[in-house]
Amino acid sequence: MVDHLLFYVNGKEILERNVESEWNLLCYLRNKLRLTGSKLGCGACTVLISRCINRNSGEIGHRRINACLAPVCSIDGCHVVTVEGLGSTSKSNLHSTQIRLAELFASQCGFCTPGMVMSLYGTVTSKNNSLPTMEDIEEAFDGNLCRCTGYRPILDAAKTFACDINKLDYQKSSSPRVSTTFDKCFSYAHQNTSPINRVPFPDKLRDYIPQSIHIK
Ligand code: FES
Repeated sequence: MVDHLLFYVNGKEILERNVESEWNLLCYLRNKLRLTGSKLGCGACTVLISRCINRNSGEIGHRRINACLAPVCSIDGCHVVTVEGLGSTSKSNLHSTQIRLAELFASQCGFCTPGMVMSLYGTVTSKNNSLPTMEDIEEAFDGNLCRCTGYRPILDAAKTFACDINKLDYQKSSSPRVSTTFDKCFSYAHQNTSPINRVPFPDKLRDYIPQSIHIK
C-alpha cells in the first residue's frame, strides 16, 4: 500500500490516496475514472506511459504498456495517455492516428482499435523529432490482437507514418511488405503530411520524485 499517488491521466492531475496494491491500471481507468476506451483483451488495453527519466536534462521517456498488467501503484509520477486523450468523434477532433486507421479501413468491429491507436501513437511519438521506420511499426503491433479486420490493412495504414515509406518503390518492389491495400496507403501518405499532435508532458511531474511502495 502507498500513502498517495500523484500522476496525470490525459493531462489531468490525479492525487489518489490509500491505493490498494492489487489494483491494476486498466480497472482503475475503467471503473474509477470511467475511461472505458481501453478494453480488456490482448493489446486492447494499451496505453502510453511517460515519465521524466533525467531530471538534469529534462528527458522524458515513453513506453507503451498493457494497462491490465500494470499495478496502479507503479504509475506514481507518470503521465498516462489513453485513447480518450487523443481525440473523440463527439468533439470532432480525432487525432491523426485515429483518422488514418479509419480512412484506410483498418477497423471493423472496433474492439481492438483503441489499443491499435495507442500502439501507433506511442510509436510515432516516442522519438521526439523523428518518425519510426516501417520495421519499427511492425514491431510496435506485436502485442495487439485483432479478431476481425486482419492485420494487413492495419499495418499498411500505420506504415503511412513511417519515415522510410518513400524509399519503397511500390511500382517496382517485390517486397513482402507490399499488399493489395498498400497502394492506397502509399498514395495517401503522400497527400497527408499534417503534423502529429503530441499530448504535452505535465511540468509538475518533471520535479516529482515517486515514493517507495511498502508491502504490508
Ligand atoms: S477490428 Fe474487430 S477485433 Fe480488431
